Amino acid sequence: MKGKFIVLEGLDGAGLSTQAALLAHHLKDSGFPVLLTKEPTNGLIGGLSKAALRGEFSTSPKSLQLLFCADRAHHLEKDIEPALARGKMVVCDRYLFSTLAYGYASKVNYKWLRYINLSFRLPDIGIFIDVNSSTSIVRISDQEESLELFEEKEKLNQVRQAYLHISKEFHLKKVDGNRDIDTVSSNINKIIEKAI
Ligand SMILES: Nc1ncnc2c1ncn2[C@@H]1O[C@H](COP(=O)(O)OP(=O)(O)O)[C@@H](O)[C@H]1O
Ligand SMILES: [Mg+2]
Repeated sequence: MKGKFIVLEGLDGAGLSTQAALLAHHLKDSGFPVLLTKEPTNGLIGGLSKAALRGEFSTSPKSLQLLFCADRAHHLEKDIEPALARGKMVVCDRYLFSTLAYGYASKVNYKWLRYINLSFRLPDIGIFIDVNSSTSIVRISDQEESLELFEEKEKLNQVRQAYLHISKEFHLKKVDGNRDIDTVSSNINKIIEKAI
């Protein structure tokens, strides 16, 4: 059996990492082999994108998105495709929809963003964990990454609007992420169980 490629997307603080870990745990408990992974990756190119986000060197919105795509190409080839081929369920915390949403909100041409992601496989199941910008800000305020780009409320609203459009275009399942962790988690488990 080929594995399924599951992607979680949303604003910072939506609970992506929390929910990806819970979903991976749930799938393992149900007897599936699982790869839990994320973008940007912990590899060299992922590290470069994260350094750019922290403002450690100056980069343009376009070159930043190309870095995310280079990281993605490597991630797919080295980790995701081999895991799927071995029948694993791949749970990925952020993927190409982050490039589309954050890139668009930083005024990069949407068609170009679509174009540079064209060769990357789409997930079997994409989930958009939707939180409002206030929830996002409260949850990230005590996190280290709070100084990264994109975290101002206005920007978060723009990213959220972009995600809402992208969710329709790519048929991502929208989950209300403003609720407590367990409620969101069982909502996600139900969606996955129905889809696999
Ligand atoms: N549904 C939730 N309700 C309350 N707090 C949450 C919820 N989901 C996550 N958190 C908390 O918010 C913070 C950010 O969560 P995290 O999963 O790292 O978000 P993300 O990966 O989307 O940025 C963490 O402190 C986490 O414990
Ligand atoms: Mg996270």
